[in-house]
Amino acid sequence: MTNSTQLLQQALSAQLNAYAPYSGFAVGAAILTPSGKIFCGCNVENASYPCGTCAEAGAISAMIADGERQIAEILVCADDECLLPCGNCLQKIAEFALPDTLVHCANLDKIVQTYRLTELLPHRFYLENTTDDR
Ligand code: THU
Repeated sequence: MTNSTQLLQQALSAQLNAYAPYSGFAVGAAILTPSGKIFCGCNVENASYPCGTCAEAGAISAMIADGERQIAEILVCADDECLLPCGNCLQKIAEFALPDTLVHCANLDKIVQTYRLTELLPHRFYLENTTDDR
């Protein structure tokens, strides 16, 4: 099984657990690290809407909690044609990724589009000393 097929399967599995009673829009995310591990997340909404978190944030937290610091590839999926990570999530992804890190956008069946991170976020807020020791 290819990396991207595994990423899609695991993101879809996380998407099934999304807690999205307010938007009705379930999202799943899966991160592949250079060591070959996969970390997943789903969106978790809240009655106080801004408290909700995106699927990508959940996957990043799982990766960091496991001691990993590098995103090799990330996949996001929704029922939609092609969900693109929101701007907030692109900044979060960029903290742990390289400009050519692959961002796969998938629906329930397949990866619809794959981008390099730099295509989606050509510029970002960056503090050199925050990323030196990662
Ligand atoms: N959402 C994500 O999980 N990731 C994104 O990149 C965009 C949006 C979630 C947040 C909210 O729970 C729902 O999708 C509708 O905006």
